[in-house]
Amino acid sequence: MFTIKLNTEFAESFLPKESVESGIKKALSHLESLKNGSGAGGEMTGWVKLPTEIESSLLEDCKRIAISWRDKLDVVVVIGIGGSYLGAKCTLEALSPSFSPNGKKGFPHIVFAGCSLSEEYMSDLLDYLKDKSYGLVVISKSGTTIEPAIAFRLLRNNMIERFGKEETQKRVVTITDRNSALKKMSDINGYYSLPLPTNIGGRYSVLSAVGLLPISIAGFDIDSLIDGAKSAMDNLLRVEITNPALKYAVLRNLFYREGKKIEIFINYNPKLKFFGEWLKQLFGESEGKMGKGLFPASSEFTTDLHSLGQYIQEGERIMFETAIIIENKSVAVNIPNLEDNYDGLDYIVGKSIEEINKCAEEGTKKAHFSGGVPNISVSIDKLDEYNLGAIFYFFEVSCAISAYILGVNPFDQPGVEVYKKNLYKLLES
Ligand code: PA5
Repeated sequence: MFTIKLNTEFAESFLPKESVESGIKKALSHLESLKNGSGAGGEMTGWVKLPTEIESSLLEDCKRIAISWRDKLDVVVVIGIGGSYLGAKCTLEALSPSFSPNGKKGFPHIVFAGCSLSEEYMSDLLDYLKDKSYGLVVISKSGTTIEPAIAFRLLRNNMIERFGKEETQKRVVTITDRNSALKKMSDINGYYSLPLPTNIGGRYSVLSAVGLLPISIAGFDIDSLIDGAKSAMDNLLRVEITNPALKYAVLRNLFYREGKKIEIFINYNPKLKFFGEWLKQLFGESEGKMGKGLFPASSEFTTDLHSLGQYIQEGERIMFETAIIIENKSVAVNIPNLEDNYDGLDYIVGKSIEEINKCAEEGTKKAHFSGGVPNISVSIDKLDEYNLGAIFYFFEVSCAISAYILGVNPFDQPGVEVYKKNLYKLLES
């Protein structure tokens, strides 16, 4: 069942009705091009039909590795940066208990590396791994990105030193393009390798082995993740004006044209903090080019209402919000009675924290709306694998259509190369 709902009640009134309707009609052709791969970057649309085309042998492979590592390893280090780690990272944060945010109890602890150039982080990691049995999942489409390559150099040497070459072969899995240097190196050294299909770019890869293997190792249900994505695919590839992905893509472009240059992705649950990071990368790298594009930001409420809230309410009117809402809760913690009622909050006794959170959400939406900040919400039924699969797909499709409306190729990232060139030049001099 497809449970994603788009609520635009607090957004559409900022725009002329005709512009929304005609925008959606015009955008139908972009969805058509996305489906048939005839738009800009069409050769990179392998992710569009991935939920139904994914090979069951790949899912089985991920589960097999997860089972064989479960009892043997304390820790699995997932090495990758950008699209090669954010999907798995945000899924683990969303589904794991708050105080052990890296997987289910009884499964290897997942840690991430190669997503910065912090020497301290690497030193701490090597120290942390000293007395642990660990494995490596190395994810890089190009296979030569400097941050993950450095982390892999260090950890591979450390592993060979500690466990020997033969055992290292059983503890390393790489996920990469079939033509990359990493794939060649894996073959030479006998490391198992899973494919990152050539027609899928990093930020659209969460539903490929890139997301599936770490998520499975952490103990979560990847079949359900894919089922959720399938439900979304069935609904969101319909070339119909009622398609919510299409409407969302159109609204964000209309706001952009109206001078709302920033989209703030909001959540009301700290477990979605990294989902905000995933969204920022997806939209930022897909749209920010040719001098165009909304600037994607993210914020946690109610936490940030006590920091950014003032600006959002009364600062420059340059933003709109897209809130990611979880409709149903999975736990119940109620407000207790207090003898002295020192805080004067007796009137909320017996309510659950989530009921209060929902009131905060409603109150914030209305406040920001009255302050000139349009509010869109995208809601899922609950926070689980199925709904995450669906919402990943929702935003991927929306993002690609939105970039087409904007007139840019959603699947390249030429700007990222500039810093890399400078870095390499400095390193070589
Ligand atoms: O979305 C993208 O393409 C990028 O964010 C890449 O995922 C990131 O730069 C890492 O690249 P690679 O997987 O080649 O190491």
